[in-house]
Amino acid sequence: MSSSEEMYLQYHGILLPRETHSSESLKFARGLKFEDDDVVAVTYPKSGTIWMQEILPLVLNGGDLTPVHTIANWDRVPWLEETRLAKVVDQLKSPRALVTHFPYNLMPRSFHTSKAKVIYVMRNPKDILVSSYYFHQMATFLEDPGTFDEFLDKFLEGRVLFGKWTDHVKSWRRAELGDRILFITYEDMVQDLPAAIRRMSDFLCRNLSEEVIQKIAEHCSFKTMKANSMSNFSLVPKDYMDSDKSPFLRKGIVGDWKNHFSPEQLARFTKGIHKELEGESFSLPWSLETTSRE
Ligand code: A3P
Repeated sequence: MSSSEEMYLQYHGILLPRETHSSESLKFARGLKFEDDDVVAVTYPKSGTIWMQEILPLVLNGGDLTPVHTIANWDRVPWLEETRLAKVVDQLKSPRALVTHFPYNLMPRSFHTSKAKVIYVMRNPKDILVSSYYFHQMATFLEDPGTFDEFLDKFLEGRVLFGKWTDHVKSWRRAELGDRILFITYEDMVQDLPAAIRRMSDFLCRNLSEEVIQKIAEHCSFKTMKANSMSNFSLVPKDYMDSDKSPFLRKGIVGDWKNHFSPEQLARFTKGIHKELEGESFSLPWSLETTSRE
């Protein structure tokens, strides 16, 4: 098995897979010139990134399904930090949509001086951990996660892609972006997708009709996305992502953590997360200990 150093590069203290990131791609990202009408969906990995790659173009173009039927998600709404961006950036139509896993402090200088808007998607870290655990089993460019228990400790210590979840959330919660940022949760999207799309549409001043909102929600359902080869990663070779081990669109539900955490793991996880968030002025939208809102 390859070592962590062979598979990941360290960038400002966080780990990034070499398969999709390079020093050139990071330089390119930091030098990207943001436009005022750009929209960036920001996520910690496994929080609903590819879901936003489906929703955003449709909200921005008024529900025209052409891009989600003809362009693979990674080119349709590329990752700011990945090598692919340099190849497709000139083909992006205005207003451009991007995704990023960057914490706030790594965003390019031009992002700060622009009026580009941000949609930050937050997901319960217990479900992120489970989703990420399966993702590490199917993606050959990621380190073997070990046992679930080992992976839980790695996650809390930030020895995983893009570092600690708590650092990511804190960085964006403290971001001084005023009305340039919309916070939305994965759980809200699962519970009522049309309502979440309505919020995004209002935030992006799109004024979409109810009919279009319903159409977008239907198209962006788990079931429809799972069947869309432009969005389900089936175009990616098996030796890179092995969907027989676990599909990328795996379960798409809230609360799968209940099938994986022991009571002891839940207590350790909750304690670890709370310790990191001590003294923060924001509160999490879910209770981590109990099953309420999962
Ligand atoms: P699960 O592994 O829990 O199923 P990311 O895109 O940030 O890597 O996040 C992947 C997670 O988002 C996976 O979670 C995936 O199933 C879920 N997801 C993607 N599209 C979804 C949709 N339309 N509805 C619900 N969940 C979705």
